[in-house]
Amino acid sequence: MMSSTGLLLAALLLTPQAIAAPSPNPRPTAGQSITLNRRLPPVRTAEDWGAWAKTEREALMSKYGATPPQKRSQGTNLITNQNADSSFYGSLAIGTPPVSFDVILDTGSSDLWVADTSCQTGCSRIAAFDSTTSSTFQNLSQPFSITYGSGAAAGSLAQDDVQMAGFSVPNQVFAAVNQVSSGLLNSPVSGLLGLAWQSIAASGHTPFWQTLASSGAWTEPVMAFQLTRFINATNAQPTEPGGTFTMGFTNSSLYTGNIDYQNVPSTPTYWILPMTSMTVQGNAVTIPTGSASYSAIDTGTTLVGGPTSAIQAIYAQIPGSQPGTGNWEGYYTYPCSTEVNVAISFGGPSWPVSPADFQLTQISNSQCIGAFFELNTGGSAPSWIVGDTFLKNVYSVFRYSPPSVGFAALSPTALAMNGVNAPAPTATIGSISASATAGAGGPGSINGASPMWGSSIGAIGVAVAVSVGAVLL
Ligand SMILES: *[C@@H]1O[C@H](CO)[C@@H](O)[C@H](O)[C@H]1NC(C)=O
Ligand SMILES: *[C@@H]1O[C@H](CO)[C@@H](O)[C@H](O)[C@H]1NC(C)=O
Ligand SMILES: *[C@@H]1O[C@H](CO)[C@@H](O)[C@H](O)[C@H]1NC(C)=O
Repeated sequence: MMSSTGLLLAALLLTPQAIAAPSPNPRPTAGQSITLNRRLPPVRTAEDWGAWAKTEREALMSKYGATPPQKRSQGTNLITNQNADSSFYGSLAIGTPPVSFDVILDTGSSDLWVADTSCQTGCSRIAAFDSTTSSTFQNLSQPFSITYGSGAAAGSLAQDDVQMAGFSVPNQVFAAVNQVSSGLLNSPVSGLLGLAWQSIAASGHTPFWQTLASSGAWTEPVMAFQLTRFINATNAQPTEPGGTFTMGFTNSSLYTGNIDYQNVPSTPTYWILPMTSMTVQGNAVTIPTGSASYSAIDTGTTLVGGPTSAIQAIYAQIPGSQPGTGNWEGYYTYPCSTEVNVAISFGGPSWPVSPADFQLTQISNSQCIGAFFELNTGGSAPSWIVGDTFLKNVYSVFRYSPPSVGFAALSPTALAMNGVNAPAPTATIGSISASATAGAGGPGSINGASPMWGSSIGAIGVAVAVSVGAVLL
């Protein structure tokens, strides 16, 4: 049932060079210019007068010392699920006029980068950023590089206006990248949006999301993900609807019950939660405690990696499982006929992972590869990387203040999106309803911190059709 997609996925995970099939269904090229529809017609309508009156009043209040009502807002970005849950990307726009790009949404790192037109390696068949077409582009001419679990990217830092889901940050620092590891970017993806904290930004600068959250632009200081599952869908296409990313609110249509928030350790870096318990087939397994329980909650990683002892304990509960060999070293095989039920708690409820997500791929008549693998992280990196294998099973919320991660059960509406073949969404930049000032950020550790787990692997493509509503700011 899942052999072809699964095998492709598995191969991509370990040998990223192996990809590069042509798009089966070419669409318009990503990254074309966005035509802005100006909302002001030659003759003022009542709506125009209303907007004028509001601006006039706020300007006067500001001039004479009153505080204008703060504009708080919320936005939604539709996600694409690439190559049967290998990666999840969204869309944003850079520059003046804004040009849209598909970017991996990665809560496991903190830098925004896109390939630029000078990129020669690792950038074939993707839309590239052309700085010469943006009137607001500024080259900071500082070198940038970052290393992920699945590759690296390097280029130089720049500033420009960045828009996403109706939000705009002028002068956002990002990297225009001209070297990308083979296989890190898969058409139509042009780069990556880091959604973790500034403290681990390789650039040292404030991430897009953090500028918005800290400026009070959001109705609520949260961003949230609902991620779809296609790993066990028959005939999954290279791109499928991937779910929903929201900024400034949680969409109560997508979850049921309460969101259980757990605080991240002081001084946020990655989105870290301690993993407090795990069951496999209903039996508790021994997992490390203390700082060895720290888990990065990472939308940019496909699977779940953890300490060797814990991974061994998981597979000890699965009769017929064995350590993988060759390319599968660090992974385990187990009988495909076994439905493996893992559940994980981070201090609150125990969240089940579906057997479909546990079953990464079939490698022989009877044996499958499990989605939990051995990972030896170094230094101050968290011991566990909890990626999409887990996150497809919950509604996940990343809260700025107090810094915490919340999970809730997916609603029937959200679950109904799993495995339903449909066109992947087009770019949803949205009309701009709020903007914020990019934080100062400081020089920080350029070329320093190297968040280890970036996006994973995927394929082929759909494109970005682009339309942005009126920009009134
Ligand atoms: C920015 O400047 C650096 C060094 O001066 C240069 O190598 C790079 O190509 C420039 N980037 C862009 C996007 O213009
Ligand atoms: C895929 O897995 C989910 C979760 O276990 C299940 O509800 C669904 O029926 C499965 N789909 C197929 C096509 O087997
Ligand atoms: C919330 O999600 C539902 C289901 O996808 C969608 O129809 C609705 O428009 C969303 N609400 C907002 C405010 O985005």
